[in-house]
Amino acid sequence: MAEETLDLRALPKADAYAQLDGHVRAVLEGIDDPIAAMATISALVHHAFSHLWTGFYRVVEPGRLLRVGPYQGTLGCLDIEFGKGVCGTAASNATTLVVADVAQFPGHITCDARSQSEIVVPVFDPKRRLIAVFDIDSDRKNAFGPEDQRGLERLMGWFARKR
Ligand code: SME
Repeated sequence: MAEETLDLRALPKADAYAQLDGHVRAVLEGIDDPIAAMATISALVHHAFSHLWTGFYRVVEPGRLLRVGPYQGTLGCLDIEFGKGVCGTAASNATTLVVADVAQFPGHITCDARSQSEIVVPVFDPKRRLIAVFDIDSDRKNAFGPEDQRGLERLMGWFARKR
């Protein structure tokens, strides 16, 4: 079961995220490697919901620069400065951003012209340092809401737990 990549689109979102959380923990059992976790979470979340783009931007210069990490989807931008675009703004504020329509977000960085809405969740290590942001793009407007925010913030708790 842990080896499968599940399609969870038919489930209510809260149930889908609960399943994903259990699945991620099962697959990563005994693993203490943030890059392996980023790759695994990107694959599972991307295919569970058939998103357009799903992945991580890692903090490579705290307060200044994000660089692309493990992801699924079409080619992502490599570097994003703190304060730029949705990812850089979420990183600067260290808070989740839900953007219903990316065309209305000043300074949105377009990596794939099909992207219509987006959620970006900060990722913290056990010392509460920002290590990355988790970015998901959809080809539909208004694809993300409070259940996605709750589910994804809980999922990102993997990186904050001491192992
Ligand atoms: N849309 C993002 C850029 C990253 S990609 O979409 C993969 C932004 O404005 O931060």
